[in-house]
Amino acid sequence: MDSRPTTRPDRRTFAIISHPDAGKTTLTEKLLLFGGAIHAAGEVKARGQARRARSDWMKIEQQRGISVTSSVMTFERDGLTFNLLDTPGHEDFSEDTYRTLTAVDSAVMVIDAARGIEAQTRKLFEVCRLRSVPIITFVNKVDREGRHPFDLLDEIASDLALDVSPMNWPVGMGGTFEGLYNLETKQLTKPDGTTAPADLSGHDPVGEELALIDAGYAAFDEVAYRHGDLTPVFFGSALKDFGVSELIDALARFAPSPRPQPAEPEAVSPDDAAVTGFIFKVQANMNPMHRDRVAFMRLCSGKFKRGMKLNQVGTGKAIAVHSPILFFAQNRETAEEAWPGDIIGIPNHGTLRVGDTLTDGPPKTITGLPNFAPEILRRIALKDPTKTKQLRKALDDLAEEGIIQVFYPEVGSAWVVGVVGQLQLEVLISRLEVEYKVDAKLEPSPWDTARWLAGDARDIDAFATIHRGALARDRDGALVFMAKDAWELNYVKERNPNLRFSATKERA
Ligand code: G4P
Repeated sequence: MDSRPTTRPDRRTFAIISHPDAGKTTLTEKLLLFGGAIHAAGEVKARGQARRARSDWMKIEQQRGISVTSSVMTFERDGLTFNLLDTPGHEDFSEDTYRTLTAVDSAVMVIDAARGIEAQTRKLFEVCRLRSVPIITFVNKVDREGRHPFDLLDEIASDLALDVSPMNWPVGMGGTFEGLYNLETKQLTKPDGTTAPADLSGHDPVGEELALIDAGYAAFDEVAYRHGDLTPVFFGSALKDFGVSELIDALARFAPSPRPQPAEPEAVSPDDAAVTGFIFKVQANMNPMHRDRVAFMRLCSGKFKRGMKLNQVGTGKAIAVHSPILFFAQNRETAEEAWPGDIIGIPNHGTLRVGDTLTDGPPKTITGLPNFAPEILRRIALKDPTKTKQLRKALDDLAEEGIIQVFYPEVGSAWVVGVVGQLQLEVLISRLEVEYKVDAKLEPSPWDTARWLAGDARDIDAFATIHRGALARDRDGALVFMAKDAWELNYVKERNPNLRFSATKERA
């Protein structure tokens, strides 16, 4: 008999969103350190190497050159397991980053106290908003001179149209920093880590600021936070360990456990007995000798055990998950099972696609995993025109992995690729060359933006007769309108109020 516990252990599955340099890496290290997953900051790499030697995923990495090391990081605190999903947030910004956010239950938004909300934070925030992902804000680097806390709070509120609720308050910043005042417990934590009750009413200007906070900002409201309408704000410094512990406590107290996942014909509840999950990311082999990939599955219900057979909904194909990559907190290295909220890496030969649902129960299709409209469009041209078939296969494969999107215009033969980050284009060309032996080059595209088209069939036909030259199909055959620029897009939208021009597409 199986003697393992059958009650579902609780998880906090989250991601950090930020603009490069705000401190995501530093905060990640500190979260792992505070959670006991590593012993000293900076050890992520060293310890990782020792540990990886014992784990099956290291074997896969070594044999096949797949880097999955930092995709999922797990730590434990106070009996809770935290799964931190890495969102590659720098130049390699891609759909991958967006998609990772479909696999989390909440997010931590890191903002540099001197810079406030920056471009990439805003973009990632919009993705969270699309799915009402609750966000805890961490205003980092209060050990340095930064902007005034009121200024930062007001910027978050107005830029992101969110209610903000400060949870602690920096007493000074930079050279004048005296500590963090907890607005709930009324205790001051000093830079040396000591915490004691404090009366700051006579402390100039902090006493006055505290009075203004009470009057000017919403009190923390868990329901509003869970809906993604309000963000609790913590000030701190990842580098100096200020406020990090409070942040973990907030994740434990407020961040949601795995929630029911929208699906057809009915939602998947974390308490369902059937094992159900969806693929949110496919990482291809970096080694051209092998065609293997690792598909990352977010578990939504049931208790997963190594060796289980899961069915790929849609194709009905049975997939035996013999050598899954399981990500574990420190004490669970030998565990063989995973629970809702956990992530499993499944090595496969290209069978699994982003958006797939896998289950050992009745077929359900998890929804809400959108494709995002690309921000950069390029025409792709072959240097050797006899390689058309190979190019099409390669583009379809890479689109399936989420590296690029591909659009086949209704008129003309020049195919168009779309990406959300420049680096994806470089990855595309290099992989075409190395893996598919296709020598291709990118050319400017006459279009600047793409929108999925939806509406009544007759309206679409009428639209198509006028705009055929600007229509294309994506790899699933969905109709896409290509616009020269934002102005044209708006113009066409206004003229066709009966059609929907969507910046995201749900997986068909
Ligand atoms: P990222 O992953 O978001 O890109 O940011 P990362 O953690 O790499 O941090 C970017 C820079 O900001 C690093 O400095 C890091 O040390 C610094 N930093 C992070 N948190 C804090 C903080 O709380 N206070 C201060 N003062 N600095 C912080 P760097 O000089 O670019 O790199 P390094 O040489 O220090 O590693």
